[in-house]
This record gives sequence, structure tokens and C-alpha cells, in this order.
Amino acid sequence: MPEITPKKLFIETLGCAMNQRDSEHMIAELNREDTYELTDHLNEADLILINTCSVREKPVSKLFSEIGIFNKHRKEGAKIGVCGCTASHLGDEVIRRAPSVDFVLGARNVSRINEVLHRPHAVEVDIDYDESTYAFGEYRNTPLKAMVNITIGCDKSCTYCIVPHTRGEEISIPHALIVREITKAVRNGAREVMLLGQNVNGYGRRFGAGAGEDEPRDFTELLLVISRIDGLERIRFQSPHPLHMDDAFLHEFATNPKICKQIHVPLQSGSTRILRAMKRGYTQENFLERCAKIRQLVPEATISTDVIVGFPGESEEDFEATMEVLEAVRFDQMFSFKYSPRPLTEAAEFTTQVEDAVAGERLRRLQARHNEILDEVMGAQMGRVHRVYFDELKSGGRIAGRADDGKLVFVEGSEELLGQIRDVEITRTSRAALDGRVV
Ligand code: 5AD
Ligand code: SF4
Repeated sequence: MPEITPKKLFIETLGCAMNQRDSEHMIAELNREDTYELTDHLNEADLILINTCSVREKPVSKLFSEIGIFNKHRKEGAKIGVCGCTASHLGDEVIRRAPSVDFVLGARNVSRINEVLHRPHAVEVDIDYDESTYAFGEYRNTPLKAMVNITIGCDKSCTYCIVPHTRGEEISIPHALIVREITKAVRNGAREVMLLGQNVNGYGRRFGAGAGEDEPRDFTELLLVISRIDGLERIRFQSPHPLHMDDAFLHEFATNPKICKQIHVPLQSGSTRILRAMKRGYTQENFLERCAKIRQLVPEATISTDVIVGFPGESEEDFEATMEVLEAVRFDQMFSFKYSPRPLTEAAEFTTQVEDAVAGERLRRLQARHNEILDEVMGAQMGRVHRVYFDELKSGGRIAGRADDGKLVFVEGSEELLGQIRDVEITRTSRAALDGRVV
């Protein structure tokens, strides 16, 4: 039999978990037609993919200098594809600005990778394209955990956010497809699933053409269905919207033993006035009430959040309202950003843009106070016992995993712990991670 020489693929993935999963999808699709092997060496790649993010401006401006570098170092005949959210919103402008790019593939069109690969200067960025019933090939970065999409797109109209323009309207994926994907992943060794969607708790509002009669009515019902899958032990999800965290959902979150006690509650701003300008649909009071409810029902849960500072019109008083929420909730993790005006968004047209230096100073204050809180929160973990799912070998005889509440935990150990769930006593703490020993 003739030997098949695999092609080499260099893929850079920026942005969120959705993009990581899209990269897995593209690898799976490519392997349906050809055999690809991943490489970290640009100069030996036959195909170079950049899976882009456009949520803030900086990575977008870096894209074109990066394409220049990739073009210079690419092997003769190698192709360059620009995929993901920036591909969606710039479309053929990518090729006009960088003619060395061979094709442009939008975030909602990843199933078409084999099609664009063979069409010179192809541009597929249709945000109405319905991928919700598409069965992708199988490829995962690790067999131990599965990321599984439950919705595509986003129906919200947060005034700062470009994503509805890059990923299009929200469509829920039929539950049979979701269950089939998770079951397959579990058979291949996954004990944990991460359900993905721009707004996971918007699940069930609109399905694509392939939906059945018996689709779950909402996210809570979907969680119930998924938790019945044999062999699946842990369920995480990313990201819910604070507005749709109703009591039924919080009850399921609190009482379903398969659901990990980690929840992302994106705040964006603590000021009701700014929240209104952002069109978030909740007030400071609503947000605090939902977080208090989570703390009451599940005291051990970790709550993480996203915050934007320097949104147009944000006064010192508005920013103080964000600091108030920080004090009240004491988030276990916070992703914080300076507001970045994005094309196609409402807020980019607002005339009250905040000076960069002011926004920068607020961001520093916010992060400094969060770090103090984190030192206390993480310090209190000393001596506690967590159930850890080990999923990554590290150098120096160490292995890492996640506690049920999402905390990153390291212990000394080797392969035999991979894929195991064990009790770990915490012996050292830091802001970002915990060290411990298996007990
Ligand atoms: N500027 C800054 N941060 C933004 N995010 C989304 N859009 C913007 C923007 N224009 C942040 C939000 C979101 C996270 C993924 O990125 O906090 O939750
Ligand atoms: Fe993900 Fe949003 Fe970035 Fe797109 S723009 S990759 S949806 S974070």
C-alpha cells in the first residue's frame, strides 16, 4: 500500500471558547477530505489558518501585520486562510488589504472549509447561513473533555458588541444532535462537557430546519436531558446571560449533581444608567439579587464575570457603581477590558467617548481591588479538599486539573492520574491556581 504523507496544518486560534471549538470543527472537516497533521512550525505548513476574534480592536489591527509575517515565512505553495469573526465582518476587504490571503471564511461558515480551500480567493461570510443541523466530523484537542455547541449566533443587541454582526442571529441546535455529540465524546473518554453558546440560557427560542417535535423548551430542560447521558459526570456551560437566570434554572444549577458549581455572570457595568445605554436589560439591583440568590443556593459556587470600563458616558459615579458590585459579589474571577469602539455597533456612534487615560486609570483601580479580593478568596482555599478532574500533563512531574468549581489545581503526579477524578487537599495558594496533594 502506498504511504499517505499527511499535510501539515498550522492553526492559530484567538478569542473565545467558541473559536476554539470552531478550530476543532475545521480540523475535523479538513480531515474528511485529506489527512492533516498539526504543526507549530509555520515554514513547514501546507495550510495556515488564522481563526480571528474581533471583539476588541487590538487583535484586528495585529492581524494584517501577522499575515505579512506568515506570508514571508510560508513554504512554497502553502495556503493562508483567514477565518472567524474578523473574517465575517471584513469579508473581501481582507483580501483587498492582504492579497497573499487565499480565502476568507466567516465564523458561521466553518463547515465550508473544504469548499473554500479549492476556490482561489473565495470569501464565504454569510451570517444567515444555517449550520445548526450540521453534523461535523470528529476532532477534539483532548479526548478527556468535550466542547459542544448548543446554539450559534446571538440575538441580543448590546450596543458595544460586534458579535451579532459576525455570528448572525441565534439558532438553537436540535437536542438529538447535541446528545449524539456528547455521547460520542463520552465513548471516546470524555467525562466532562462544556456547553457553548453566546447566550446559553437563550436555548430553545428558535431552531433550524432540522428540529424535531420534542425539542426542550429552554436551557433548563436541555440541562436535564444532557445530565441523563450515561458516563457523563460533569457539565459546564459558557456563557449564560444574567437576564435569563430564572429561579427554575438556578434551582437546577444548585441541585443537579452533574452540573459543576461554576457560573459566569457577565456584569459589564455596575451602573444601571450605563447598563441601559448598553441595552443589557437588567439593573444593578437585579444583578445583585441574582448573585445573592446563587450564593444562597450554592455557597460553594464560584462566580466569574466580565467588566467593561470606559463605556461612552461613564462618569466617575457610574464607575463607582461597578466597584460597588465588585465589593458585594467578590467575584472569583474577573475578565476586565477597556471599552473598544467597534464598527457596526451603536455605541461607536455615541458622542460621549471616555478619554483613554481615564478608562485606563479606572481599569487599573478595578483590577487592583479585584486582586486584593482574589488574594483573600484564594488564600481561604488553604487546607480545603477539592474533587479534581486531571486533564493535562505538565513538565517537572506535575499534572493539572480543574476542581468542580473551576479552580485550576496542580499536584505532583504522572500519566496514571490523567482522566481520573480525585480528592485533593490544597497545600499552597496563589491568585491564579492552587497546589495540592491527592488524598
Ligand atoms: N469593548 C470592550 N470589551 C468588549 N467586550 C465585548 N465587546 C467589547 C468592546 N466593544 C467584552 C465583554 C464580553 C467579552 C467577551 O468581551 O465584556 O463579555
Ligand atoms: Fe468569540 Fe466574540 Fe471574539 Fe467572535 S468576537 S471570537 S464570538 S469573543
